[in-house]
Amino acid sequence: MDHAPVPLLDLKAQYASIRDEIEPLLREISESQWFIGGPHLDAFEKAIAAYCGTTDAVGCASGSDALLLSLMAAGVGAGDEVICPSYTFFATAGAIWRLGARPVWVDIDPVTYNCTADGVQEAVERCASLKAIMPVHLFGQALDMDGMLAVAADAGVPIIEDAAQAIGSRDATGARAGSRGWTGCFSFFPSKNLGGFGDGGIISTNDASVAAHLRRLRNHGMDPKYYHAEVGVNSRLDAMQAAVLGAKLPHLDTWSEARAANADDYDRMFLEAGGGTTAQTMDDTSLPLLVPERPQTPAVHIFNQYVLRVPAAIRDDLRAHLVEEKIGHDVYYPVPLHRQECFRSLGEASLPVSEQAAAESIAIPIYAELTSDQRSRVAETILSFVKTHATASV
Ligand SMILES: Cc1ncc(COP(=O)(O)O)c(C=O)c1O
Repeated sequence: MDHAPVPLLDLKAQYASIRDEIEPLLREISESQWFIGGPHLDAFEKAIAAYCGTTDAVGCASGSDALLLSLMAAGVGAGDEVICPSYTFFATAGAIWRLGARPVWVDIDPVTYNCTADGVQEAVERCASLKAIMPVHLFGQALDMDGMLAVAADAGVPIIEDAAQAIGSRDATGARAGSRGWTGCFSFFPSKNLGGFGDGGIISTNDASVAAHLRRLRNHGMDPKYYHAEVGVNSRLDAMQAAVLGAKLPHLDTWSEARAANADDYDRMFLEAGGGTTAQTMDDTSLPLLVPERPQTPAVHIFNQYVLRVPAAIRDDLRAHLVEEKIGHDVYYPVPLHRQECFRSLGEASLPVSEQAAAESIAIPIYAELTSDQRSRVAETILSFVKTHATASV
C-alpha cells in the first residue's frame, strides 16, 4: 500500500481546482487598491443571505467577532448569563466572557455532539439573569432548532447560533444552520468548508434592524460618519476575502457532498469491521469504535469534521501511532471549556457526556479531495491498531 503521508487537510488541492477563478479577482483588487468595503463585500453579503435563506448577512473579521458582535447587539454585558455548551471551540465562551457575562454550561447529546433542548431548558431553570442562548452546530451537523426555539421563546431570550463549523448544513426541517435564530454566526477560517485566505466571518439574520445595528457595531458604532451613539469595534471582512469567498461559494455544496461521500466510505469500512455508530455505546459493538450517527433527510451534515470515538484508554496511543504513520488527525476538543483554567472561577460543573467525548474523540481526514486509497489507508491503519490494542484495554 502507498505509505505517503495523509494530511488532516490539504488546502492546496482545493486551490489547484479553482486557481483560475481566484487569481483574476486578486489581480483586479490589487489594481483597484480598493481593500475595504466595496462591491465584492456587498455582493458576497447578499450571496450568503440568499444561500442561508435569510434577509441579511453582515461580514466581519472572524467567526469569533461574529459571536461577539451578536452578543453586543443583544445587549449582553456585565453580570448577564448566556447558555452555551462546554464541548466546543473556545471562541463560543470566550465571546461571552469578553463582555463581562458568564457562560452557563450545558452538556451535549452523545449521538450528535450538539446540545439539546432538554439540556438547555434545564440550564434556563438554573439562571437568574439569562440574556441569550448560544448553541453550537458542532462538526457541521445542525442542532435541533425546533426544540431550541421553543425553549428560547419560553425563556424570552434570543438564540445566537454558533454556526461557525456548519455553513450549508440543514436541520430536521431542512432549514440551513444559522437561518432560524436571532442571528447565525459563521467563520471563514481556512479550515472551514468555506474557508478564506485568512480570517473572516459573517452574521446572518432575518431582522433588518438587527443587521443595521451590526453594521454600526462592526464600524466602531459609527453612524453617521464620526458620530458615535455607542461603542463598537473594528471588525471588517475585507474585499480580498469577500472576493475569494464569493468565488468559492458556488462550489461549497459540491465540496460538502464530497466530504459526506468520504464519510459514507469511512462508515462502511468501520461498520463492516464491527464498529458501531454514536447511537450505540462501545459495549454494544464487536469492535470498540464509533462513527458519527447520520441525521435523516432532509437534515444535511456537512462534515467539517469526521469524528471517531475509541476507548479513552487507547485514544492517545492511537494518536501516537497515527503520527508514526504520518496520518493527519486531531482531537476536538481534549479539554472541555468548563475545565479550562481561565473559567475556574465559574466553579465545578457536571458534564459527563462532554468529558467522555473529550477523552474518546479523534478527528480524521475528511476533506473533499481525499482519494479512495487515502481513505483506505486511514481506515485500515486505525482498524488494525484498534483491533490489536482495544480488546486488552476495555
Ligand atoms: C464552534 C466555533 N465557534 C467559533 C469559532 C471562531 O471562528 P474564527 O476562528 O473565525 O474566529 C470557531 C472556529 O474554529 C468554531 O469552531
